[in-house]
Amino acid sequence: MKLSLFSAAILALTLSVASGHQHAFAANHRSSAETDASPMYQSSRLIKVSEAAAPRWMDLADILVLRRAGVRFMDITDSQALHGSTLGGASLWSTKLPTELAKQKEVGAALEELSTDLYTKVLVPFTKFHNRYYDSKNGKESSEWLQKQIVALVEDSEAKANVTAFKHRFPQSSVVLRIEGQGENKDELVVLSAHQDSVNQFLPWFGRASGADDDGSGTVTILESLRVLLKQGFAPSRSVEFHWYAGEEGGLLGSQDIALDYKQRAQKVVANLHFDMTGFWKKGSQEVIGLVADRTDAETRALVKKLAESYTRLKTREFSCGYGCSDHSSWNQAGYRSAMAFESDELEANTHIHTPGDTVETLDLNHMLEFSKLAVAFAYEVGDAKSN
Ligand code: BES
Ligand code: ZN
Repeated sequence: MKLSLFSAAILALTLSVASGHQHAFAANHRSSAETDASPMYQSSRLIKVSEAAAPRWMDLADILVLRRAGVRFMDITDSQALHGSTLGGASLWSTKLPTELAKQKEVGAALEELSTDLYTKVLVPFTKFHNRYYDSKNGKESSEWLQKQIVALVEDSEAKANVTAFKHRFPQSSVVLRIEGQGENKDELVVLSAHQDSVNQFLPWFGRASGADDDGSGTVTILESLRVLLKQGFAPSRSVEFHWYAGEEGGLLGSQDIALDYKQRAQKVVANLHFDMTGFWKKGSQEVIGLVADRTDAETRALVKKLAESYTRLKTREFSCGYGCSDHSSWNQAGYRSAMAFESDELEANTHIHTPGDTVETLDLNHMLEFSKLAVAFAYEVGDAKSN
């Protein structure tokens, strides 16, 4: 790969400052166990860039070059068990998805309650963190702040839900909210998700990364759905969880840790619906819900298409996103059903991501509402369905 003199200089600077930062951090944490160290303190990481290619050990400089070249990768250093040959893509949990919609009344009532107020209330402060980089103090603080917002939502409602921080080997935690199922099938689990971290692709540790669309938008999309579900006294038969992943930008780190943990504990995940970027829509262009066609499950995509046609004002269009694209890929790798909804059917729709230009002002909150509708519909139609 050819680097310009300028970017080579920036790269050298980043790496030297970053290694200084690692030492400073390590010095503060001498007492913690070796295994608690952030992955970035290790000299190299095991990186996979496609299904076909064997993973390769890479150092931070190689990874930064990949990132800047826009290569979508998974960092599998700590989740190699997910990538073993025995897993194959076979479905780990094989209960059927609903083929007919049955919750029109409940979904209809919930959709009436959706509004864009919470988007602004949460997204504006969320994008004010200098960045939400998973391997930094900023990323840890933004995660703790987000968790507080989620807890506040639960406390403001009469509903019962449990909020926990899922810890990783790096400073930022994923946040998991669980609504316990009420039916015989409460051991079956439905997962709605987004990623909470952001990155500046040129200076990951220190650069400004407002991350409004990527993925502040998905973060608040499912948060608003959750608010309305809690308000409606949502008490599904299956258990329903909302996940806000840490470290997506580091190679799907948070979601791989969680998918591996759930798999090892033989959790019956019926399906995951992931939201990464829901806010950008250019006036005049066709407004659609993009569905990622690769490394997702066809049945789940078909169900999401049906939900969109019944409950939103938009049609779906499938497109390919690439190997590492986003956290749906981790669930798919674990052998669970997964789908991913995206703001457009064009990969390059929003050119501001991973830069300081990814701001709230560039987003269309009414576009986002359609995705909150989809999340509410998925929670009711899959979460509150009987097993079959
Ligand atoms: N939100 C993006 C993925 C994305 C970007 C989907 C543009 C569709 C259009 C995600 O946060 C991301 O940046 N993924 C990286 C891979 C990651 C493992 C470093 C990517 O796409 O390059
Ligand atoms: Zn991103």
